[in-house]
Amino acid sequence: MYEIIPVDPFDLVLFGATGDLSKREILPGLYRRFKVAQMPPDSRVIGSARTAMSQDGFRKLAAEAIEAALEADAIDHNSMGGFLDCLEYVAVDGERGGWEELARTIRDDVIAAYYLSVAPKVFPVLVRNLKDSGLARKGARIVVEKPFGNDLESARALNSVLSDAFSEAQIYRIDHYLGKETVQNLMALRFGNILFEPLWNSRFVDHVQITVAEEVGIEGRGGYYDDSGAMRDMVQNHLMQLLCLTAMEPPSTFSADAVRDEKLKVIRALEPVDPECLVRGQYGGGPGVRSYLGDAGIDDSKTESYVAFRCGIANWRWAGTPFYLRTGKRLRKRLSEVAIVFRSLPHSIFSDHESIDGNVLAIRLQPNEGITMRLTIKEPGPGGMRLTNVPLDMSFADAPLLEMKELTNAYERLIMDVIRGNQTLFMRNDEVEAAWKWADPVIGGWEASGSRPLIYDPGTDGPASAAKLFPKGGAGWRPIEH
Ligand code: BG6
Repeated sequence: MYEIIPVDPFDLVLFGATGDLSKREILPGLYRRFKVAQMPPDSRVIGSARTAMSQDGFRKLAAEAIEAALEADAIDHNSMGGFLDCLEYVAVDGERGGWEELARTIRDDVIAAYYLSVAPKVFPVLVRNLKDSGLARKGARIVVEKPFGNDLESARALNSVLSDAFSEAQIYRIDHYLGKETVQNLMALRFGNILFEPLWNSRFVDHVQITVAEEVGIEGRGGYYDDSGAMRDMVQNHLMQLLCLTAMEPPSTFSADAVRDEKLKVIRALEPVDPECLVRGQYGGGPGVRSYLGDAGIDDSKTESYVAFRCGIANWRWAGTPFYLRTGKRLRKRLSEVAIVFRSLPHSIFSDHESIDGNVLAIRLQPNEGITMRLTIKEPGPGGMRLTNVPLDMSFADAPLLEMKELTNAYERLIMDVIRGNQTLFMRNDEVEAAWKWADPVIGGWEASGSRPLIYDPGTDGPASAAKLFPKGGAGWRPIEH
């Protein structure tokens, strides 16, 4: 049975409290933690933004946001009242007002956490004011949302702004993929079972496929997205983290630095992507579906909404095993998975089956979280030794012990980890910088060549030429289906 362990009381200042992420994820997530008594009632969430707003005004905004984000039966009147009582609001305006009031509001005897859910260009002024107001005190935590820079140089500049006021042990760089249940299960599966480790290398693994496919388009985020593209928005962070957890060596303990040291080694061993092994795409329009340009409200753009590539990891474990990664918007289905495709058998003893498909271990992140292992078995019944390939399927939704699947989403789990002071699921400065160091030349190469992404039809698997990343007669991409 799962257990809810309450965290210590805290004061969490939510900068950007009136913004989209706060309304969609952070406030609803905190409410859910309050409802199950993980967030103690003497904790406070202090909303902060530039807009002047009364405390009641902020509570009303929060109540509406929570009602919009959660199902009606996930909300009960009592706990909602209790949660809203924990909310306060202090307007701060960059250089000018609000900081003294904020400093007076934060209590000395509880954990202080500052969540920067704001555009990165605002970080420096907020961090400087936190420092000048004496709020960057020992033990305080600062939480930083992505995008963490848009290249190595800007990431370094942000790291230096943060480290001017906070030590690395106080900085929590969020990648919400690390808060997903199944992403953590990847570690449980690898390091909690003796079964996989002996096979988890290039001798037995033919290749690895990592897919993060979305059905949605850029959803009104054209301004941000057109400067980012799939490489910066998804690959440098979310897919990179999935790759690290899949490929890393077993850390000696499940502690923040032991895990992050191993992830860093993977990023550093990642080979540069050969431009020939990369496909960029941008979704076109279809019946009743706007194109990328239509969604972004612009006439022309070379920004990619899809990217697929093959790369290698130069170390003893993985030399010779290609990793295929792809992500895109407006694809056939929403599907995120990591698939480990094992090598074919060296020899078949079954005369009717000259070759036997390799085993595939697929770890599904969403939707329908679970793990599937494809195995070869004898087809039941008479008729000789006929073999068939079947899935051994564990869907978390069906597993009674895992009924808590819906209970914690990524953001709320990560915020509770911030309060606990556990940095395992957060990115360290050197990890972020190493990921940019790898991504920058890829992006720089496109920019220098002036090349354009291929246009693909919405609701498909993306540009057809992505299939060519596999060797002729090779396995090919796994279908984007549930
Ligand atoms: C965000 C990206 O970080 O992750 C979005 O900025 C993307 O573009 C989103 O849609 C995907 O997250 P999830 O949890 O829905 O897979």
